Amino acid sequence: MPEPATLLVADDDPGLRESLERTLTREGFHVVLASDGNAALERLRGGGIDLVLTDLKMPGLTGIEVLRAAKAIAPDVDVILLTAFGTVEEAVRAMKAGAYDFLTKPFQRPQVLRLIRQALERRDLIQQNRELQQRLDVLLQQGIAIGSSPAFRRMMMLVDQVADSSATVLIQGESGTGKELVAKTIHARSARTKGPFVAVNCAALPEALLESELFGYEKGAFTGAAGRKEGRFELADGGTLFLDEVADLSPVTQPKILRVLQEGEFERLGGTRTIRVDVRVVAATNQDLAQMVREKRFREDLYYRLNVITINVPPLRERREDIHVLAQHFLRMYAAKNNRKLEGFTDEALRRLEAYAWPGNVRELENVIERGVVLARSAQMDVADLPPEIAGATPLPEGVLSVRIGTPLAEVEQRLLEETLRVTKGNKTLTARLLGIDPRTVSRKLERQDEPGEGSGP
Ligand SMILES: Nc1ncnc2c1ncn2[C@@H]1O[C@H](COP(=O)(O)OP(=O)(O)OP(=O)(O)O)[C@@H](O)[C@H]1O
Ligand SMILES: [Mg+2]
Repeated sequence: MPEPATLLVADDDPGLRESLERTLTREGFHVVLASDGNAALERLRGGGIDLVLTDLKMPGLTGIEVLRAAKAIAPDVDVILLTAFGTVEEAVRAMKAGAYDFLTKPFQRPQVLRLIRQALERRDLIQQNRELQQRLDVLLQQGIAIGSSPAFRRMMMLVDQVADSSATVLIQGESGTGKELVAKTIHARSARTKGPFVAVNCAALPEALLESELFGYEKGAFTGAAGRKEGRFELADGGTLFLDEVADLSPVTQPKILRVLQEGEFERLGGTRTIRVDVRVVAATNQDLAQMVREKRFREDLYYRLNVITINVPPLRERREDIHVLAQHFLRMYAAKNNRKLEGFTDEALRRLEAYAWPGNVRELENVIERGVVLARSAQMDVADLPPEIAGATPLPEGVLSVRIGTPLAEVEQRLLEETLRVTKGNKTLTARLLGIDPRTVSRKLERQDEPGEGSGP
């Protein structure tokens, strides 16, 4: 049995207090009485109150003043105002000041009870959502990436393997695929997890500013350098430095980074003292660095230094199994944030989500779900809550695989195998028969897939 809710009733009319007490106690509520506003606030400060019902006109503090003070003392506790006939304007004012609702005297028992139950239900929901949100925040801080596709699981296996070394990692993938999240996960699962995770976006700042951010500067290093400042490399000492958009490093900055990677040392701008740091570098880019090296737009030696281990984050369209779990995850997250009661998706909405190509990858999916949560009118997100380009996506019929021209044959084979296994619910014998190959071949191909790919270095 849940604890009975505690209701605080403030009214200067003893008759009304007692009749409310009798009614509410009979309904199983725990009732606390106050004969004026000050007594009510005193009691509220003591804690343990779930809902306040207060008269609007009382000697001493008015109901509105009680309401304002209550919002300051216990912001989570809703206030219902009891007004006499004829004070509607004041009731409107009360609503504006944050009252949950108001009841005009004389009121009917069922009406009072319904309002109280609604307010308590809402309070429960807000509390549950808040707890859920806190748990999610903790998980996200630990760098929890979500996914269930074979491609995603392979990537996470590699993440686990490399996390504990101090090798430099290069994360490659299209925009919005989750590169930064992967970098955080590597940090969280490494021995450096108690150390700092410091991120620098190499594309966000012009060369000179970026260098002073990275290496710091001494007083007077340049006009405006009024004091000494530590750079991100120093701040990341003992932890991980995430160099985002690393392809945008200028030709002038590139050798300086190379030196830190090779020697673990550098000087602050305008300084002469050599500073040594213990930093693990994880870099990310959505550009083809190898191609840039060939075109002499990126230093080869730096590329090799960064690219000790490569992690390729696959685009969302190549791991369709993840769409459902990610969509569900974002739905829960944004429903909690917006205090919406949303449980899931209609089958049709889900089919459209899975059929869409997601050029903006996980970030686009996240935005679409956040928008949908705000728009949704029922407990399930429907096609109408999705943007037109997705609502109009034609779902592939079950059992059809779509492959873009130019996809490597090995990848086509792998996706065909995975999709067939999915349709046969993991039945290898049936899969082999459908594909016209030997069951042992299926097993062998699966084993090979489960070997995490080596850092596909140069
Ligand atoms: N597997 C995942 N599980 C949960 N959330 C994810 C996952 N992948 C990405 N996200 C979320 O999607 C958003 C985009 O991810 P992130 O910023 O890591 O992508 P990115 O590859 O760094 O993008 P860009 O290239 O644009 O910088 C973030 O809000 C992130 O939390
Ligand atoms: Mg990023």
